Amino acid sequence: DLGTLVAQYYQWKKHFPRVEPFYAVKCNPDRAIVKTLARLGANFDCASRNEINLVLGASRELGLEKTPEIIFANPCKPRTHIIEAVCKGVRMMTFDNVDEVEKCAKISKKIELILRIITDDSGSQCRLSSKFGAPKARWRVLLAAAKRYGLAVVGVSFHVGSGCRDSSRYDLALKDAKELFEMAERDYGFEMKILDIGGGFPGETHSLWNPVDIIDPTVKRINGEMVETVIDDQLDDVEEAEDEDDKKEGLEKDFDGDESKPLMFFQDIADHVSPKIDEIFPISTNVRVIAEPGRYLVAASCTLVASVTSVRNNAIGEGEEILGISDKVAAKGLDSLTRGEEREIVDSQSNPEHAVIGTIVEELQSYSKLYTSQNLVQQEVDVWTDKSDVGMLEAPDPSEVHDAFREQSHTAEGMSLGIIAECLEEVDRPRSMSISSLNNSRSRSNSIETSKGVTGLEEDFMNSVLSIAAAGEAAVSGVVIQAVADSAPYQDDFAYYLNDGVYGAFNNLMFDHASVRPRLLRNTPSKSHRVVVVNDESQQQFCLEDTDDDEDNHNRNNNDLFSSTIFGPTCDSIDVISRSVLLPKLAIGDWLYFQNMGAYTCAAASDFNGFTPTNKFYVCSMQPEEFDIDGQ
Ligand SMILES: Cc1ncc(COP(=O)(O)O)c(C=O)c1O
Repeated sequence: DLGTLVAQYYQWKKHFPRVEPFYAVKCNPDRAIVKTLARLGANFDCASRNEINLVLGASRELGLEKTPEIIFANPCKPRTHIIEAVCKGVRMMTFDNVDEVEKCAKISKKIELILRIITDDSGSQCRLSSKFGAPKARWRVLLAAAKRYGLAVVGVSFHVGSGCRDSSRYDLALKDAKELFEMAERDYGFEMKILDIGGGFPGETHSLWNPVDIIDPTVKRINGEMVETVIDDQLDDVEEAEDEDDKKEGLEKDFDGDESKPLMFFQDIADHVSPKIDEIFPISTNVRVIAEPGRYLVAASCTLVASVTSVRNNAIGEGEEILGISDKVAAKGLDSLTRGEEREIVDSQSNPEHAVIGTIVEELQSYSKLYTSQNLVQQEVDVWTDKSDVGMLEAPDPSEVHDAFREQSHTAEGMSLGIIAECLEEVDRPRSMSISSLNNSRSRSNSIETSKGVTGLEEDFMNSVLSIAAAGEAAVSGVVIQAVADSAPYQDDFAYYLNDGVYGAFNNLMFDHASVRPRLLRNTPSKSHRVVVVNDESQQQFCLEDTDDDEDNHNRNNNDLFSSTIFGPTCDSIDVISRSVLLPKLAIGDWLYFQNMGAYTCAAASDFNGFTPTNKFYVCSMQPEEFDIDGQ
């Protein structure tokens, strides 16, 4: 939905009037997205020569008077890419090591270097500082190297981590940037003129184009006419906005308790960071402030619609009792449990092996906490944002909930809680990945060396820890998700297999530590209507077609909800999209949709197992001329 993209862009302009957005193409290198942003006047952050060529090609096609500016924001670039970039007029490049300075200097003295510094990126959905950024101790070495090789250092960049929900992360980074500005000017004579505050801003909201609308039998085409419907919806949204905000805030406070900070949305972050920039880098200094937003601009612009290709009925037998627990109790329990563990980690710092293990456990805990809290926040946002989805999103009336569901441990929100329930139990059976068992065995075993003579449980524990360490930080979230999947003590009532999965657009579950929410494309007049692609001269559109198929044998008005697992289409067991979500009973041919699927999705999709990557269709819920640059 290019309308959402435009709306996000103007919202940025409103809340960050001084900060020029350079869209991080890696987030979604879709040509229509790049063109729309170029047309709006955005600049671009590219990580490779192909991205540079994409931006330049798109702007040529648009016949723009002014070619967008590009920052080559990859601190470790292949030499051939630097050569091509320079030939195509790209000058600004980030760096964080001496070898990069030398590499650049041998290619062109016209390159303008921007020093990427390390920041505290804990609390972000995707952490980047373990790969890039110069620590303070190395700044002088790098500035001196640039001086020696005759290259100009013109600015500082940082990235607080992708999907940052805590504006205070910017405070320290801005202070560090200021310190480096002063050092570079005072001690090395560089003219520092660019402050690059990177990306990381959250972008989840909801597209104004809602696929539910395609069920309206009067709407045959998803263009033009749709605008009216959407504007009505928008007015409702505006009326409810305040209400929603209150509720969201309530939830955050409720979940995070006294000690943690609430998770923040874009506006909160921008409204905090914008004045901070002016305070630390006053407008009078003429420092140009740029940013590299990726997910903020595009996350909400894509809605993924996938169809059910297979169904498996796993309904559990009578008498199988599984611990029941509510979302909020679980979240609080997890929180206090992990805080207890933090205490222990602190206590064990004197022992070096324990310190290593402690750090790994701590990483796992913060991932699981973040995962849980993001899930909760996202679910609440969904609940308050889209009332049309009541069957799935509102707490079901217990009298209407299927018996099998009531016996299980699923919550009103349909959240996957197996592992959390395990944590809250007194664990007496070895479960190598459970946080509780990690904790228990750590306190009994003194060090890695002494683990030889210990019980199987402790060996399991050590092996788990070591393999997690080896898997590396980027994989930790994936490991946890897989562990949850593998250790689930029960199966959901129904399993559905979709025509897209983690090897396709849902790779964000692995690479981006995302959580997604399936929603039923509800009230389809009948299964006999299907969405078809229509090639209308130059434009590809889609509409509903009556197939005259009356095999619609499941009752659309039945409100029974069942715990369900959503799988992707491949044969790999890691290809799981959602577990334990509450859905009505689905049939082959039904459609589910997932909002906020624009960031880090199609960008890394593969055709593993021979499944073709996701098709794209473009709509515009709002026309560009409806937007006023001044934020009206
Ligand atoms: C250098 C750089 N800039 C910008 C971004 C975009 O980050 P986000 O999508 O969180 O805004 C990334 C993401 O990895 C990045 O590495």
